[in-house]
Amino acid sequence: MLQVDLTGKVIVVTGGGTGLGKAMAKTFAACGAQVAICGRRQAIIEATAQELGPAVHAYPCDVREWESVSAFLERVVNDLGKIDAVVNNAAGNFLAASETLSPRAFRAVVDIVLTGTFHVSRWAGAYWIEHRRPGHILNIVTTYTDTGCAFVLPSAAAKAGVQALTLSLAYEWAPYHIRVNAIAPGPFPTEGAWSRLMPNANFEEMYKNRLPTKRYGRPEELGALAAFLLSDLAPYLTGAVIPIDGAERLQGAMFNYLAQVADRETLKAAFAALKEATRGST
Ligand code: COA
Repeated sequence: MLQVDLTGKVIVVTGGGTGLGKAMAKTFAACGAQVAICGRRQAIIEATAQELGPAVHAYPCDVREWESVSAFLERVVNDLGKIDAVVNNAAGNFLAASETLSPRAFRAVVDIVLTGTFHVSRWAGAYWIEHRRPGHILNIVTTYTDTGCAFVLPSAAAKAGVQALTLSLAYEWAPYHIRVNAIAPGPFPTEGAWSRLMPNANFEEMYKNRLPTKRYGRPEELGALAAFLLSDLAPYLTGAVIPIDGAERLQGAMFNYLAQVADRETLKAAFAALKEATRGST
C-alpha cells in the first residue's frame, strides 16, 4: 500500500486542538511530520498535544489578531526550524435566521474564518517568498461555497471568501512554488460543529436519511486527503477545491430526488412502464 510520507515537514494547523483540526494533526504526525497546533484555549491545545505525542506542539493563538498570528508563526520557525505548510482550519459557525443576526455575530464568524485565513496565509506566503522556500496553504472550506446556504449566512459568506482567496493566491504565488488548495468537507460530525448545527436527534435522523451514502464522513478520511495534498505526491496540484462529502452536495440535481425511492425495483418498474408508454413515439 502507498504510504503518505510527511517526514521532516513542519505543518501548522489552526484550530488543531479539537475536531477535524485535531484529526488532521493526528494523521500528519502519524505520517512523520512535526505539527504545530494553535487555538485560543491553552488548556485544550495542550491536552491535545499531550494526547497526540511529542511530534505535536501546542501554541496559543487567536487567528483574528494579526499580532497573535505573527508571534505564533515566528515562534514555530524558532522552535521547529521552518514551516512547510499551513492548514487554515480554525472556524466558527452556528444556525441562525439571518434577519436576527447581530453585526457582532456576523463579524464573529467572518473574523475567524476569512480574516484568520488571510492572516496566516499572508504571514506564511511572505515568509516563503523571502526565504525562497516552497510552501503549501491548505484551506478548509465547505460544500456550500458555490451555492450559499440558508441559516449559516456568516459561514457561507466567509467560506466563499476563503475559496476566492485560495484561487487568487494559487495563481499569484505559483511562480514562488507555493501551492494553495482547499478541501470542502461535507458532513463530518464533530462535537464543536454538531452541538451548534444539529438542533436535536430528529433533525439528525432527517439529515442522515438524505445522505446518498447513508453515513457521515470519518475524520481519518479527511486526514488522509489532507496528508496526500501536503505530501510530495502532489506537486502539480494547486488551485483545487476538493469536495469530500460522499456526494451529498449533488442532491439538488434535477432527477436525483428519484434516489429517495427506497425500493430500486419499484423505480425500475416505473422506468420500464415509461419506456413502454413512449415506445415508437417521436
Ligand atoms: N446565534 C446567534 N448569534 C450568536 C450565536 C448563535 N448561536 N452565538 C454567538 N452569537 C453572537 C453573540 O450573541 C454575539 O453577538 P452580540 O454581542 O451582538 O449578542 C456575537 O455572536 C459574538 O459572540 P461571542 O460568543 O462573544 O463570540 P466568540 O468570538 O467568543 O465566538 C462563535 C465565536 C460565535 C463563532 C463561537 O461559536 C465559536 O467560538 N465557535 C468556534 C467553534 C465552532 O464554531 N466550531 C464549529 C465550526 S463548524
